[in-house]
Amino acid sequence: MKIIGSVKEDFSSEKRVSVTPETVKKLIDLNFSVFLEKKYGEHVGIADEEYKNKGASLESSAKEVLEKSEIILKVNCPSNDEINSIKNKSILIGQFDPISNKEMINKMIKKDVKIFSLNLLPRITRAQSMDVLSSQANLAGYRAVIESVEEFGKVIPMMMTAAGTITPAKVMVIGAGVAGLQAIATAKRLGAIVSATDVRTVAKEQVESLGGKFLAVEGSENLETAGGYAKEAGEDFKRKQSELLKSEVKKNDIIICTALIPGKKAPRIISEEMVKSMKPGSIIYDLAVSQGGNSAFSESDKVNIINGVKIMGSKNILNNLALTASNLYAKNLYNFVNNLYSKEKKDIYINLEDEIINKTLINKEL
Ligand code: NAI
Repeated sequence: MKIIGSVKEDFSSEKRVSVTPETVKKLIDLNFSVFLEKKYGEHVGIADEEYKNKGASLESSAKEVLEKSEIILKVNCPSNDEINSIKNKSILIGQFDPISNKEMINKMIKKDVKIFSLNLLPRITRAQSMDVLSSQANLAGYRAVIESVEEFGKVIPMMMTAAGTITPAKVMVIGAGVAGLQAIATAKRLGAIVSATDVRTVAKEQVESLGGKFLAVEGSENLETAGGYAKEAGEDFKRKQSELLKSEVKKNDIIICTALIPGKKAPRIISEEMVKSMKPGSIIYDLAVSQGGNSAFSESDKVNIINGVKIMGSKNILNNLALTASNLYAKNLYNFVNNLYSKEKKDIYINLEDEIINKTLINKEL
């Protein structure tokens, strides 16, 4: 029986966990033993007892878990110390960005560790249940609206009161991908008037189906790749988009930024001038802040106030709903392990003919 292990993340930057009591049971049903570091999930409200009740073994240190494990589940890349304890030839599964984790990844490759990064999953139907980027971005879009509303000093829905009518707040979403669509849905549920823009024309129908108004950049081409992602916009598009947004941004109370081009710096969409045109008390939440931000004045984990407009963005907003994010993340990981497991061989089988396995595996030095 192979051992799957997981250790605590660095709590100063990561609150999510990779294994929940629900997935312990599923992994055991799949013929694995599960070893966790003690107090593994206490910070998200999961006691060691809950893990034990589902059959997990709790060890007193990370080292003990890592030295035993043939498969390791993580959120972020292991630290130097952790890598020293990881067994040669083990399997590591998580969300590792090859660029920012290059040094650590190379160190593990030297130990012949097979590293699977779910950030590299192909966006195909079969991979949807493992798609960590989608499950997490969906929650990020929801939470960005909630945090913006909390900072916003006014009411969101229309209210008719004896003292007079309160007009609904206006929310604009930049980028209608996974996070953006959930932000639109959340703002609509709260009663806001919502608009959104995107470079992919297919987004229009999706925005409208959620009750939002689509702001199209007129006369521009569809900037969608075959894989469904956005292409970088040219100068003509940027000029037209900027003209459109100059008149739209100032009408809004809350702006949620989610525009992303995979592998590139975030496109700068909201200019200093646009920020300054907004009413004092307005909010900009920039989810793209760790890729450089879509908005002027956005900085990771800071609230900047410019002419009364608050510009904010957390590097890891998922820490603010860590339990829900962990539940989905752990299920994504379980589904990935399930796909790696061969029922015939009753063991892990790295079948490189499987697109999911092939595309996510990092097995050469970067
Ligand atoms: P996605 O790829 O599904 O959506 C991005 C959207 O932006 C796409 O629809 C794309 O067409 C659009 N876009 C690209 N360039 C544009 C432009 N110039 N103007 C308008 N739209 C444009 O990405 P997803 O998964 O929704 O993630 C969105 C952002 O949220 C990313 O930057 C991601 O890293 C970030 N994120 C941040 C988290 C945090 O904790 N801060 C957590 C999860 C996601």
